[in-house]
Amino acid sequence: VSEVIIRDFDHSRDSAALRDCFIELQNYERQFDPGMPEGLTIVEAYLNRMWARCRQWEGQVFVAEVAGQVVGFVCVWARVKPDEPDDNSSEHAFVSDLIVGSTHRRRGIGSQLLSAAECYARACGARSLRIGVLARNGAARRLYTSAGFEEYQVELAKQLG
Ligand SMILES: CC(C)(COP(=O)(O)OP(=O)(O)OC[C@H]1O[C@@H](n2cnc3c(N)ncnc32)[C@H](O)[C@@H]1OP(=O)(O)O)[C@@H](O)C(=O)NCCC(=O)NCCS
Repeated sequence: VSEVIIRDFDHSRDSAALRDCFIELQNYERQFDPGMPEGLTIVEAYLNRMWARCRQWEGQVFVAEVAGQVVGFVCVWARVKPDEPDDNSSEHAFVSDLIVGSTHRRRGIGSQLLSAAECYARACGARSLRIGVLARNGAARRLYTSAGFEEYQVELAKQLG
């Protein structure tokens, strides 16, 4: 089994792999909500926005590398400002994206990426770390629970025909 390296994203060599990973992530989530757009159609717009928020909120992207190939990534924003008047007014950190390629799952890589995000958030002074997840994404929810996350806000939906 090849060693897993978790390291900072490097624009000069990881851009194509990041793009592929995001497309896989988006297409994976579409199984839970087929109304979501296909990864390929939004990848540029999505990643541009992700990087803009990294600049705004002290974000960082970490990649997981196995045998010289990037097989997953996590994006974490360390200082998200609350945007509603009634929100808790303190800043929090937020994991915006996490994906491990399908051929590399269940080997602890997702946990390692999540730990890297947590470590970074702590080092930036964050007091809490949040993640959004689709309710039907059982694998991701189990990972988050096993890493110590608890439900904070629950959004419900009712289909209206
Ligand atoms: C969620 C995801 C990142 C987990 O990555 P991973 O490398 O497979 O996770 P790990 O091997 O570190 O798993 C850690 C723990 O999470 C839980 N877990 C992960 N995948 C699971 C699955 N398919 N079923 C049940 N539990 C799972 C288990 O508790 C696991 O520990 P164990 O293997 O000792 O039982 C990966 O499944 C993935 O990329 N999924 C598609 C994209 C996605 O859903 N991203 C999250 C969006 S919010």
